[in-house]
Amino acid sequence: MTTSASVWLATANMPRYDGIGADRRTDVLVVGGGVIGLTTALELQLEGADVVLVESNRIGARTSGNTTGKVTSQHGAIYAQLVDRHGVEVARQYAMANQAGVERVAALVDRFGIDCEFIRAPAFVYATEDTDLRREAEVAAELGLPASFAAELELPVKTTGVVRFDNQVQLHPARYLAGLAEAFIAAGGRIFEHTRVTELDDGIEAKTEPGAVIRADHAVVATLLPFGTLGGYFARTRPQQSHGIAVRLPVAAPTGTAISADGPTRSTRPWPGGGPNGLIVVGSGHEVGDQSDTDAAYRSLADWAGSLWNARLEPEYRWSAHDYSTPDHLPYVGKAPGSPLLVATGMHKWGLSNGTIAAGILRDLILKRDNEFGALYDAGRIGDAHSVATLVKDNLKVGKELVAGHVRRLVGGGLDHVEVGEGGLYDLDGKTVGASCDHDGRLHTVVPVCTHLGCPLRWNQGDTTWDCNCHGSRFTPDGKVLDGPATNPLATP
Ligand SMILES: Cc1cc2nc3c(=O)[nH]c(=O)nc-3n(C[C@H](O)[C@H](O)[C@H](O)COP(=O)(O)OP(=O)(O)OC[C@H]3O[C@@H](n4cnc5c(N)ncnc54)[C@H](O)[C@@H]3O)c2cc1C
Ligand code: FES
Repeated sequence: MTTSASVWLATANMPRYDGIGADRRTDVLVVGGGVIGLTTALELQLEGADVVLVESNRIGARTSGNTTGKVTSQHGAIYAQLVDRHGVEVARQYAMANQAGVERVAALVDRFGIDCEFIRAPAFVYATEDTDLRREAEVAAELGLPASFAAELELPVKTTGVVRFDNQVQLHPARYLAGLAEAFIAAGGRIFEHTRVTELDDGIEAKTEPGAVIRADHAVVATLLPFGTLGGYFARTRPQQSHGIAVRLPVAAPTGTAISADGPTRSTRPWPGGGPNGLIVVGSGHEVGDQSDTDAAYRSLADWAGSLWNARLEPEYRWSAHDYSTPDHLPYVGKAPGSPLLVATGMHKWGLSNGTIAAGILRDLILKRDNEFGALYDAGRIGDAHSVATLVKDNLKVGKELVAGHVRRLVGGGLDHVEVGEGGLYDLDGKTVGASCDHDGRLHTVVPVCTHLGCPLRWNQGDTTWDCNCHGSRFTPDGKVLDGPATNPLATP
């Protein structure tokens, strides 16, 4: 039987924290309990600041607890592209930043004794078509990374080139996040779960969903994408969703991590909880809200792994999550334009290393210290001409979505036609409503219009969520916000 949950969150004993009960005053407010928020909070608390972290859900519950758990500077085959696009110096800084991110994670695990299945192992990126990985290996090595062109890959895939990075890290991301939270609390920090910030003004006064107000000298918005319209980041990024499965192979699984350089992306790593044969496969990426049949995405991952090991594989866990990409491939970290608020977004699905470095940049901005990577990730940059052209194209697509999306196909018939376990758009007295029926037979109806900026929502059958293709907000079947930038629930019809 397949469990629809992140294998990490399902196998970690996550600490629990109360919601905020009363108004608070603090030096630094951190909004968001993913890897960036937790690392930033810990880094600042260790420096003597008084830090409050608030999380709308549970810590680690969203993207960070759903990652592949690879902490690496090998972000696919990107270094030759970074050199071609930005020049050697920027590519070198990105490489060094992420290698430093790997070592910072290792140092935190060691210092706080975090029990998170941490191991050092090689990471491989491989091509099956004509991607020139010999140049990628040479460029990465010249930039100072532990990279070499390799003759072999542990996966039974016919390759045209393989790049090996030595001494990279695999860990259990949810247990790592739990360890960060416990270290933060032990250092005197405070965490409030089930506490959503709905408004945050430049005077650094935060209104929260239970009603309490938090006042602070500084605020860090580490909510995957800044919520609302803060900094305009919703229009400068794209939401990319990926799916993951945990399976047991008929033979021992490869011990290193691997990722394909050509599409469709297939990212693999061992699943220690599944024993020696346990394997995790992540991929089938697409934009949030642009597919309804996400069951097919999970099936294609299991079929791909099954075809390699000549077996019919039934996933034991399956899950999905999303992250944001930026047009120039570099994250935005620092002061949002025209605001004292600090942000970190656009990690390109590599936030365990990028996000750890982001936390150091945010800490140093608050403590008024220089940070060697601060300029690289400048949150106020506009980018090169290519970035601007990409942004214009992306925003035209969002415009079309806004106008045309409402005419999406109805599933057909009225609400009495909603099958158990299914959802979609239905007709209710001539109006289009979003409806779904859960496995207990309960019917949920919503107005299928995103509360961020009004885009139409698409039913995601595999994950049973309402997803917005414009900027990536996701909602539960009964309309609660799962992921921003939206902060308000869906209306009821
Ligand atoms: C499928 C997948 C696999 C990945 N695998 C890897 C990997 O192997 N290695 C790697 O380096 N990176 C990986 N990544 C990328 C990495 O997971 C992300 O970059 C990283 O987790 C982002 O961290 P975050 O703290 O910004 O976001 P999150 O973990 O999403 O944390 C943000 C938190 O803010 C909370 N929040 C949102 N709005 C509010 C609000 N208004 N008030 C209060 N709280 C709020 C959310 O509930 C959430 O918990 C992967 C991404 C995906 C999608
Ligand atoms: S996330 Fe912006 S309109 Fe939906």
